[in-house]
Amino acid sequence: PVHPVILSGGIGSRLWPLSRESYPKQFLDVAAGGRTLVQQTLERLEGTPDLASPMVICNQSHRFLVAEQLRDNPLGRAQILLEPMGRNTAPAVAVAALQALRASSDAVLAVFPADHLVGEPAHLRAAVIEAIEAAREGGLVTFGVVPTRPETGYGYIEAGEPVNAGPARVVRRFVEKPDAETAQAYLESGRFYWNSGMFVMRASRYLDALKRHAPAILEACEAAVEAAEQDMDFVRLDEAAFERCPADSIDYAVMEQTDAAVTLPLDADWNDLGSWATLMDAAERDSVGNVLLGDVMAEDSRNNYVRAESRLVATVGLEDHVVVETADSVLVASRDQVQSVKRIVQRLQDDG
Ligand code: GDD
Ligand code: MG
Repeated sequence: PVHPVILSGGIGSRLWPLSRESYPKQFLDVAAGGRTLVQQTLERLEGTPDLASPMVICNQSHRFLVAEQLRDNPLGRAQILLEPMGRNTAPAVAVAALQALRASSDAVLAVFPADHLVGEPAHLRAAVIEAIEAAREGGLVTFGVVPTRPETGYGYIEAGEPVNAGPARVVRRFVEKPDAETAQAYLESGRFYWNSGMFVMRASRYLDALKRHAPAILEACEAAVEAAEQDMDFVRLDEAAFERCPADSIDYAVMEQTDAAVTLPLDADWNDLGSWATLMDAAERDSVGNVLLGDVMAEDSRNNYVRAESRLVATVGLEDHVVVETADSVLVASRDQVQSVKRIVQRLQDDG
């Protein structure tokens, strides 16, 4: 069986003020389509053969949000693994792998971040089926998206020769979030793909790779699962053990190190809703390039993303800006600097 694993532990600080620590973006309908991101993540997998019931891994403070939002999901009753604190994605996937192996020794994990939009879910499902095949043969499979712009918010994969007769290719290297110049060169080279952050692999193969490349993470996660408390659908990881775990991403801790990484092409109109710029790219523009959501009036304004949650917002003569109004805060940002919104969140956190 293939276990869907949904990574839902981020706080989405680049989407402030809509996304908050207490209510992050994955639990919101950020793309204004009627379903939250975490709900869409599960729903788009419906119809994939041989799926076990899903696992969601999130911070313990979000347990009721997750339980509520996944109550009637089409993949079946979710197990909710609770992290006492964030330790990034390598430990999160390790914990899911250990939990899946309790159910079956040949478990395959299909890992999906909870903050993506996929325009063509049928293409994603087809790619996942191919990936399961490659994972059963031992590969740590990533999906490579053909880049359409020099995005600096993603990791890149340099693809090498084909693994066999199929579409899978060897991964030459990973480069996490390059600068703008490097990203432009990658875009022009034709050899680089965006790392989608979704992975398919045997649980046992992932743990082997961790043992080799990040043994301290494996050890701490084993202890945290060993001493976990099961409480209905919630699995509470042991706090003392998990606290000891080094924080690292699956990209840095495993995928950049291993020689078992393979990549499959993905053409599914995929977007990580990481920042206001990607949200704007994924939305429908009006004839002058604006995305206007809620009660908004725009006069002589172009290429803006303006979102009003609770009041009328009006712009005059505004270009290339992001304006997001919520009941207690308003963001006004230059569109080419939206990656830095997280600095505001950092300052708010520092000020307590
Ligand atoms: N459970 C858990 N615990 N989940 C986490 C944690 C954690 O400590 N930290 C992050 N996540 C979840 C986030 O909620 C998100 O769904 C996913 O893991 C990826 O984390 P992000 O913080 O969104 O990473 P990123 O977007 O900057 O970069 C990653 O994804 C890109 C594509 O979406 C990298 O894999 C990039 O290489 C990749 O291009
Ligand atoms: Mg992301």
